[in-house]
Amino acid sequence: MCGIVGYVGTEPAGPIVYGGLENLDYRGYDSSGVALVDRGLTVAKRAGEVSELRFPKEPDAVCGIGHTRWSTHGPPTDANAHPHTSKNGTVAVVHNGIVENYESLKTELVEAGYEFSSETDTEVIPHLLERELEDGHDLLSALERVVDLLEGSYAIAAVQAGTDRIVATRHESPLVIGHGDDGSFLASDVTAFLEHTRDVTYLEDGDIVSLEAGDVSVYHDGAAVDREVETVEWDADAAEKGGYEHYMRKEIHEQPTALRQALSGRIDLDRAGVDLDLEFPQGCLESLEEIQLVACGTSYYASQYAAQLLEEVADVRATVEIASEYEFDGGRDPWRTLVIAVTQSGETADTLGAIRRAAGAGARTLAVTNTLGSSVTREADDTLFIRAGPEIGVAATKTFVSQVATLALLAVDIGRGRGTLSTADARDLLGDLRGLPGAVQQVLDEEDRVLKAAREFRDSESFFFVGRRFGYPVALEGALKLKEISYDHAEGFAAGELKHGPLALVTDKTPVLAVLTDGTRAGETMNNVTEAQTRGAPAIGAVSAGLETGSLDIGLEVPNVGIFEPLVANVYFQLFAYHVANLKGRSIDKPRNLAKSVTVE
Ligand code: F6R
Repeated sequence: MCGIVGYVGTEPAGPIVYGGLENLDYRGYDSSGVALVDRGLTVAKRAGEVSELRFPKEPDAVCGIGHTRWSTHGPPTDANAHPHTSKNGTVAVVHNGIVENYESLKTELVEAGYEFSSETDTEVIPHLLERELEDGHDLLSALERVVDLLEGSYAIAAVQAGTDRIVATRHESPLVIGHGDDGSFLASDVTAFLEHTRDVTYLEDGDIVSLEAGDVSVYHDGAAVDREVETVEWDADAAEKGGYEHYMRKEIHEQPTALRQALSGRIDLDRAGVDLDLEFPQGCLESLEEIQLVACGTSYYASQYAAQLLEEVADVRATVEIASEYEFDGGRDPWRTLVIAVTQSGETADTLGAIRRAAGAGARTLAVTNTLGSSVTREADDTLFIRAGPEIGVAATKTFVSQVATLALLAVDIGRGRGTLSTADARDLLGDLRGLPGAVQQVLDEEDRVLKAAREFRDSESFFFVGRRFGYPVALEGALKLKEISYDHAEGFAAGELKHGPLALVTDKTPVLAVLTDGTRAGETMNNVTEAQTRGAPAIGAVSAGLETGSLDIGLEVPNVGIFEPLVANVYFQLFAYHVANLKGRSIDKPRNLAKSVTVE
């Protein structure tokens, strides 16, 4: 749950590594550190955000590594911050992931006289590397030998005193190489070095790489291998705040663009079809009995929305499971089951675990992700990118809508492929999808009204979000967004369930926010809202344009885009969460205790 970065070249490494860490601190921000290579190693690290790190001034150092941490083993302390160094201080290591067998390795090293100064799993690595160096291996072969001893998931980068070279490897944790004019880069994510280069190589699990100024060599199973150099289309600006106070607000406002990117070149209205570049084996779609979607958090709610779309549009049974709870249960034929992992980061350990269990059972797997080269793209049989662009704010916003839109395209594709979706219905749906970016923009233009509502209700005791059908996952997502970033209590309910218990919590201090649009049985939902209003609760509704509801305290208009209207309503909820949190001065882009990429189970 961390970010790593490295640079070796002809420029001073310090500022480059520091800039990389600033770009990566969304991956973890409870500690940070760097190691710069000079005749020795200059290491600076501490608990706290990157901005709190006192950066060493080593103008001659042209090689360095850095780390931003989100604690897994050992609390966020100065000692537990990376880089970790070896006994004699000749090797420094940064690591993202978990060394599962670190206790037995540590015991062995302690018995051999190694002293440990942290509580981390990582610290075994520099000691093991130094032991290999003392046995006469160079750093690259030392890493090859040490990797054989490690169990777990890791992206590791190591440097050695007096040598302008970084060696690195990955296993089930992301690691990407950047090829610049003035040197070579590595990082957990391309956003770390996008201002220097967009030419990148995504490493494969088990690759070991050696970076020197102007030379990147990749090895696999002891042999040199060629890995493709790809050009990333995102530019550095896309990864910056673009004038907004928070990434989250910027990303909320980027949703029309994100949607256009998700749909671009994929819709063919003439033949009422879509082109997703997916090649399912002959007969696969026709024989499908079930689609299972596995995901966590916001991606899980996107999947709940998508499952309803798949059933309605493609006429195929679709179920959703929280990835950490997923097993390929009995009663299913793996050959007739498609398992879709929905994960914006592509690195969520729970989701990767689920897709492995599905693949292990023999099911066909598909990844739906935002992240090129991410682990899930290597695990799944096929990948569908949601093309939302980088999302830095920890709270997912634009990736939610892009996930649903992309899965809607898939639903149309499957429906057309199976012959269950008529040309006319497909055309209507695709037309509504095309209208989605504009509809979202209209809601964004109403931001001032949402800000006013946020001012009015910011001090409420609890917030209840309700919806039916497509409105239900949006209610759950609305509540999650608010609790994540404002730390207020918020719950999402199926509107019909209010009267079966939660109504007992309703008072005049508990606003109810409702989805009252197409695809949500708005009339019945409004009855439930009225029941809450009768008990004193203020009611805010996101309502389809032209739809008559009863008396709401605040009604927010949703443009007509059919069953995608709840997605548009969600934009009001995102803005509401954002403004409540902002009025309270919360750490919006980095809410307490949360990280963007949850790479532990
Ligand atoms: C909430 C949020 C999380 C993620 C979840 C899964 O705002 O971002 O709930 O949705 O951790 O992440 P991915 O989609 O990367 O698998």
